[in-house]
Amino acid sequence: MSHLTREEPTLAELSRPKKRAVKFPRAACAKDSQPLIPAQYLRKTRPRLPELSELDVVRHFTRLSKLNFSIDTHFYPLGSCTMKYNPKRNDTLSTLQPFLWAHPAQPEELSQGILEILYELEQALVEICGVRRFSLQPAAGAQAEFTGLMIVRAWHRDHGNDKKIVLVPDTSHGTNPASAALVGYQVQTVKSDERGLVDLGDLESHLGPRVACLMLTNPNTLGRFEVHIQKIAKMIHMVGGLLYYDGANLNPLLGTARPGDMGFDIVHLNLHKTFSTPHGGGGPGAGPIGVADRLVPYLPAPLIGRDGGCYFLEPAHPKSIGRVHAFYGNANILIKAFIYIKTLGAEGLKRVGEASVLNANYLLTRLEKIFHVPYPGRCMHEFVVSTLKENPHGIRTLDVAKRLLDFGFHSPTIYFPINVKEAMMIEPTETESRETLDHFVETLETIADEARHHPERLRQSPHTLAVSRPDEVAAARTPKLVWDEPPLASPDKSPEGILALKSQR
Ligand SMILES: Cc1ncc(COP(=O)(O)O)c(C=O)c1O
Repeated sequence: MSHLTREEPTLAELSRPKKRAVKFPRAACAKDSQPLIPAQYLRKTRPRLPELSELDVVRHFTRLSKLNFSIDTHFYPLGSCTMKYNPKRNDTLSTLQPFLWAHPAQPEELSQGILEILYELEQALVEICGVRRFSLQPAAGAQAEFTGLMIVRAWHRDHGNDKKIVLVPDTSHGTNPASAALVGYQVQTVKSDERGLVDLGDLESHLGPRVACLMLTNPNTLGRFEVHIQKIAKMIHMVGGLLYYDGANLNPLLGTARPGDMGFDIVHLNLHKTFSTPHGGGGPGAGPIGVADRLVPYLPAPLIGRDGGCYFLEPAHPKSIGRVHAFYGNANILIKAFIYIKTLGAEGLKRVGEASVLNANYLLTRLEKIFHVPYPGRCMHEFVVSTLKENPHGIRTLDVAKRLLDFGFHSPTIYFPINVKEAMMIEPTETESRETLDHFVETLETIADEARHHPERLRQSPHTLAVSRPDEVAAARTPKLVWDEPPLASPDKSPEGILALKSQR
């Protein structure tokens, strides 16, 4: 783990006057050329750019990359994020030259290959989810939610309904209420019952003519399958509302159950979870949005159509909410999803879902011996635990999560969902081996032992990383984005020397 323990100076701190990576020869005509930019727009001082050799830059970024946790280096059980291993083959194939050279403004007759792939991807997603059509445009789950709620609003307006309320369960992902509020809806929260499912009595009490939509993810963020989903669909439809499926948790249902069959009217998928692009890292992603028959005219345009053997962009339907992304969306992510689906096939996808559920239940069964489990019973692809069962020194979930880093595990999601105190949400995914899962359990058993006998070791962890316990609120609220100090006059110009001087300041 030693490579994780070192801090890294910034490029500005490593900078030394006159160091260069490359030096271009001066053009023979340079002296005579007239400045192309008028004098008033030319800067008066030189920009303070770091001056470094190529080797300095290569080493800096390589060292930085080694400070990272990643799926390729560590188990990454980040609940609700489906951080599974994605085959490298899909990256290679999706970046073949013909894809890189294809320009989205090319005429349709020169884009038949890519249009066929996107058309076929839509057909596959339609089959997997049991809806009528998909638009591939949205670039993330949250953007797809926003798009779906615009469709909800357009549908209700078209039918003369003045509906103002969107319902979300108390386990919902934060983007659900945020997207509803952005589209102008009032958000009301529905409680969960003692099993962690939507409380049907509480749902009933919120229903009325002003309810436009209920947003649900199934399995929900406690990793529980909403067993009353068809009843819930009926209840919403009875008051003229629509049912929205947040498909960020589709992974365990692949090939086994379809949101359309459960009664959902609108479905979004996070291709950057389930279909071969990792969710972490802030993008790019793809969040296709699918709808039942009656909502197809409202989808973002254009959709891709087929006439015999030819693919084309369908003209926008007059009711379409318009575009939400340039061209067809994030093409590279869409191509990867297509390759993933085609190479696994229907049977392979089903096995993905089943293995993700098996792995999660294996971990849950072993971990319920040492952790409180707020909603006991079998789970789907993920589950939530709370504090340690034997906890005489009041060790918190944050301490357990931080200590895991010392043992080479990325932390699970913590303090979410917010209806569970001291929540730790674990999603192993289908791609982890039995050995890795066993090693994870044994590590948590060691940590549980430390919690009883060496609590300070946990409270001060991690001990082996460059950064230990940053003030996360301050980092999020007042990020330092501009480097504004003069370069350090360090006598020792090595990264170690610079860091030593920095720590004295
Ligand atoms: C249940 C759920 N819904 C929605 C989202 C939002 O997806 P995105 O991060 O692509 O905007 C997430 C992301 O983790 C999620 O877990």
